[in-house]
Amino acid sequence: MDSILIHGGTPLAGRIPIAGAKNACLALMPATLLSDEPLTLTNCPRLSDIRTMTQLLQSLGAEVSQLQGGQVLVLSSHDLAGVRADYDIVRKMRASILVLGPLVARRGRAEVSLPGGCAIGARPVDLHLRALEALGAAMDLRDGYVHASAPSGLRGAVVEFPFVSVGATENLLLAAVLARGTTVIRNAAREPEVVDLARCLRRMGARIAGEGTGVIEIEGVDRLAGATHPVVVDRIELGTYMLAPAIAGGEVECLGGRLDLVAAFADTLARTGMEVRATADGVAVRHGGARPRAVDVVTAPFPGFPTDLQAQMMALLCIAEGESVLEERIFENRFMHAPELLRMGARIEVHGGTARVHGVERLRGAPVMATDLRASVSLILAGLAAAGETVVSRVYHLDRGYERLEAKLSAVGARIERVQGT
Ligand code: EPZ
Repeated sequence: MDSILIHGGTPLAGRIPIAGAKNACLALMPATLLSDEPLTLTNCPRLSDIRTMTQLLQSLGAEVSQLQGGQVLVLSSHDLAGVRADYDIVRKMRASILVLGPLVARRGRAEVSLPGGCAIGARPVDLHLRALEALGAAMDLRDGYVHASAPSGLRGAVVEFPFVSVGATENLLLAAVLARGTTVIRNAAREPEVVDLARCLRRMGARIAGEGTGVIEIEGVDRLAGATHPVVVDRIELGTYMLAPAIAGGEVECLGGRLDLVAAFADTLARTGMEVRATADGVAVRHGGARPRAVDVVTAPFPGFPTDLQAQMMALLCIAEGESVLEERIFENRFMHAPELLRMGARIEVHGGTARVHGVERLRGAPVMATDLRASVSLILAGLAAAGETVVSRVYHLDRGYERLEAKLSAVGARIERVQGT
């Protein structure tokens, strides 16, 4: 297995291009299942999760061609044969559940393996299932699969989620666009990835209003056409690279970055003493010179501080002056980076969903590993600040969500390389 080797302590300077959003792309790709005309997605990130979604769609009979080295995906579902999403693919990636809504909407039935638990929490899919039930789908859970059917089509309904779920909002959107009548989603997720999905579906002919607010209204249509849609920029990759100069020193401009996508995070970063500003080409962060100041962080659905940047922010707070408190309110087990950071000399106490970080002056390099994507990248960031050598193993987690991470960071002066495993 490959690992990433980092020699910390070098300040950064330069520009990093930010890719299209993994989590937007994973919700946009299943939209192909709704139409027999081609859907072209541009600005796609080249990541293993995108390859997994490609395999899943192909297993259902969709054609997926890659252009421009995978940055453009042309998806076509004119000849859909399958309705079954196998456990072998779903277990690799939970976002596979997003084929459920469009399959039931277009084919009248679907069999999708239940994803099971994952490293950051139990992550049930009950809200997805209840939402589709509200649209008239019959659900049967057998052999670890959800068997959903709506032989005479879905009907619009009012669905109020008890709490915000990005995936359940997306699955419901992907189904309601072809349902008869009007669907109203209350307490809908407002994440930019949901907005991007609504925009793409509208380009395909869907009638949707209110995306980006807590109430989305969808007027079902009989059929959707093909479309071309650029994937929104990845706000989590953006936030991750905004933290790199804050941790290592120097200045980095993130090309294509937009402050409106990361407002709560950017405010928090500025409160640590970093200079954060919009530029003509993106977003720049400059180290203020002094040691970062401690800040408190509470994760929340958009527009709050994203859970997907909590681990990376913790890496910065490990070297801040003073004590920071991080509260994780979205997932119940998302501090697995903390014990690894301790191995690098950090001082962190975790009690349930709260972590107290007492900043230290310097981290020290160490061999570390993590069990999910964002935890792994927080260790890379910590390695940029640490004295000596850090080796991050289980790099396959990083490859799920960060394209060419070593190349992007070495281009701005980091001493980082991938070491091929045996
Ligand atoms: C999306 O996951 C993202 N994944 C996650 O990104 C992100 O952390 C999360 O949203 C929150 O922003 C994709 O978009 C592919 P949720 P999702 O449904 O949709 C609970 C990353 O690192 N819940 O908004 O699965 C759930 O357990 C990843 O890129 C239910 O109880 O998240 C969680 O506690 C990790 N029942 C909370 O809701 C349900 O049916 C919010 O989860 C659905 C969710």
